[in-house]
Amino acid sequence: MTKNILYFLLIFIIGFSTMTRSKDMTARIKIDTDRKIGKIDKNLYGNFAEHLGRCIYGGIYDPGSKLSDENGFRKDVLKAAKGLNVTILRYPGGNFVSDYHWLDGIGPKDQRPTRLDLAWKTLEPNTFGTDEFIAYCRKLGTEPYLAVNMGTGTLDEAKNWVEYCNVKEGPYYAELRKKNGHPEPYNVKYWSLGNEMDGFWQMGHKDAVDYGKFALEAAKLMKWTSPDIKLIAAGSSNFYGDADPHKWNRIVLNYLKDYIDYISLHLYVGNRDNDYYAFMASPLEIEERTSIVEGQIEEALSKTRRKTPIYVAWDEYNVWYRARGAGFNTGRNALEEKYNLEDALVIAGFLNAFIRNAHIIKMANMAQLVNVIAPIFTSKTDMFRQTIYYSLALYANNSFGTALDAFVDSPTYDTKKRKQVPYLDVSVAYDDGTVVINVVNRHLDQSISTRLICQQGKFDGEFSVYEVNGPDIKTENTFGSEPVRTKEKPAIKVNGKSFTYEFPPHSLTVIKGKIK
Ligand code: AHR
Repeated sequence: MTKNILYFLLIFIIGFSTMTRSKDMTARIKIDTDRKIGKIDKNLYGNFAEHLGRCIYGGIYDPGSKLSDENGFRKDVLKAAKGLNVTILRYPGGNFVSDYHWLDGIGPKDQRPTRLDLAWKTLEPNTFGTDEFIAYCRKLGTEPYLAVNMGTGTLDEAKNWVEYCNVKEGPYYAELRKKNGHPEPYNVKYWSLGNEMDGFWQMGHKDAVDYGKFALEAAKLMKWTSPDIKLIAAGSSNFYGDADPHKWNRIVLNYLKDYIDYISLHLYVGNRDNDYYAFMASPLEIEERTSIVEGQIEEALSKTRRKTPIYVAWDEYNVWYRARGAGFNTGRNALEEKYNLEDALVIAGFLNAFIRNAHIIKMANMAQLVNVIAPIFTSKTDMFRQTIYYSLALYANNSFGTALDAFVDSPTYDTKKRKQVPYLDVSVAYDDGTVVINVVNRHLDQSISTRLICQQGKFDGEFSVYEVNGPDIKTENTFGSEPVRTKEKPAIKVNGKSFTYEFPPHSLTVIKGKIK
């Protein structure tokens, strides 16, 4: 008898708690095509290729491999990279660039010097350089973005590299490019003034004033050589010890405000403590740091007569915490992070943050393209797509046009650092009648039944649904097995102001259709 009562009591408690929990797990997303944030720049879907580990050598470039073409480019990697719709590719570093002398990487390959790469403690053969990089960009159909050496480099080197790439004919370096078999200028539009120059780990690291002065002189010479180029200043990346990243950005913006078009920021996040919910919220730092820099840009612009804007370029972002430390950081297999489902959701969180700030963030580059903290992973004979590949590919192939400021009413959770983090992380893109709704359900084990409401006009017709998910948040992909990938779900037929969708736990869902 007592046993029976206890049994019923238990059933009641379980039933009641499930009911109350799932009762809370509802949300609303209101979409209003009049609430525009800004144009989504195609360069939000950029990537990065550094001379580091097996990103270039053994990743992009593997001459002699049966998998490579006549240029030595791995065909399987190129095909996978095309699936990411890489709109802009940053090169050659990263930390590597702060001791890179571009003249080492041009001309006959057998005459190019091998150098010590002090950034990643290895040998740099220089068999891949400017001409090979541009050829790769043309094959991939992407915009090249070069970083100049502001560490051990000189003003002359920076200016001459622009001349080599962008001046048609006449001066020495333009003629040198022609002599090397490239009669037409490369017209490289995007150039960054060094990399992470605030970091003590950078070769030739400077304080903000020294960097500001040096970068200003480089910027002048580079723009005078090729007036249409866009310049990106190295913003803050040093959050260690008593470094003051905001002060760095303020000083640098003040020096460079008349010459730069972007200031670059970097963010890597990780899940060291295995705190899933805090990790899921970590891309929110993008929004926090962007809004601080946005104010600083406004302040700097208020002191100049220029009428054109300065934007934010998050030109390095990713999950990176496992393949760190001395054992991982050096040599040919450096930074070979293996990604799981939770990482793929965090990448979707980054992309949502970029889209929600599309008015000011006009470039973002996942670091990096192949093998090194990368969506594409190779062996000598094979390759696979890491979990993060699928999130990036979904956004890069669908979310264009104008970012809309959706109203999201979602249940929330608290972490040690942040209060009221919504379980649903949402961004919306709208392009010529097509709406793309990107939703991460951060909840670990509950789906969220969500009413999607159209404020202007109505949802009209068939809506495609794509989902990135997997059996478990720790599931990884590997050679021959990609359990975490995009699956197309049954389309939804909608004709009206609203519909309901159940977003499954630990998932990214992209819903795409027409508004009339
Ligand atoms: O992407 C790996 C490294 O991270 C880059 O070389 C550097 O810029 C950053 O610290």
